[in-house]
Amino acid sequence: MKFFIDTANIDQITEAKSLGILDGVTTNPSLMAMEGIKGKDNIFKHYAKICDLVQGDVSAEVISTDYEGMLREAYELAEISEHIVVKIPIIKDGIKAICKLNDEGIKTNCTLVFSAGQAILAAKAGATYLSPFIGRIDDSNWDGMLLIKEIAEIYAVQGYDTMILAASIRSSRQIVDAARYGADVITSPLSSILGLLKHPLTDLGLEKFLADHRKSQG
Ligand code: G3P
Repeated sequence: MKFFIDTANIDQITEAKSLGILDGVTTNPSLMAMEGIKGKDNIFKHYAKICDLVQGDVSAEVISTDYEGMLREAYELAEISEHIVVKIPIIKDGIKAICKLNDEGIKTNCTLVFSAGQAILAAKAGATYLSPFIGRIDDSNWDGMLLIKEIAEIYAVQGYDTMILAASIRSSRQIVDAARYGADVITSPLSSILGLLKHPLTDLGLEKFLADHRKSQG
């Protein structure tokens, strides 16, 4: 399973990269706004910076909701770097745009996915990645992880190549469950990735090993 970080924050991306386990980055308009980046030039420069840093797939989302507008933005974004993956919402014009971009060899991430039906259409259209929003499904009292499981079963039966990218992850446990239920990729905040390291018995065990070592050294 690939590990992406879900942020546009350079410090957090740098820290995740330093772990050696980072495969890519996902962003969205809300995450870009959180960094205070305004204006097309600055936004494009920021994407370029992230791509240079990560040297892996970096999802950059279109703002347009019509076919022509999405394609125009997609071509501009794809020019920034070979690492750019164009993030497109699962709406009618989005599916058309994904088909076209797939035909032209431009990678896409189909976003705002909340159902297996949407996942089937995105795979048929040839999306590179599919982003079901686990946390937001849980927020609405459904089970985001069951959706990952259902999509993984359908994609396996049908032999679809689209990679399931479990998104809107808010806890380390969700990363574990996503791995278990068949996600190809998770994207998560740095805190949930680092949270995977935590176990009190590891801390206690290490403390004891170091104490015993100190004793044996006199
Ligand atoms: O990758 C999509 C993700 O950023 C959405 O996360 O926490 O806003 O639901 P969240």
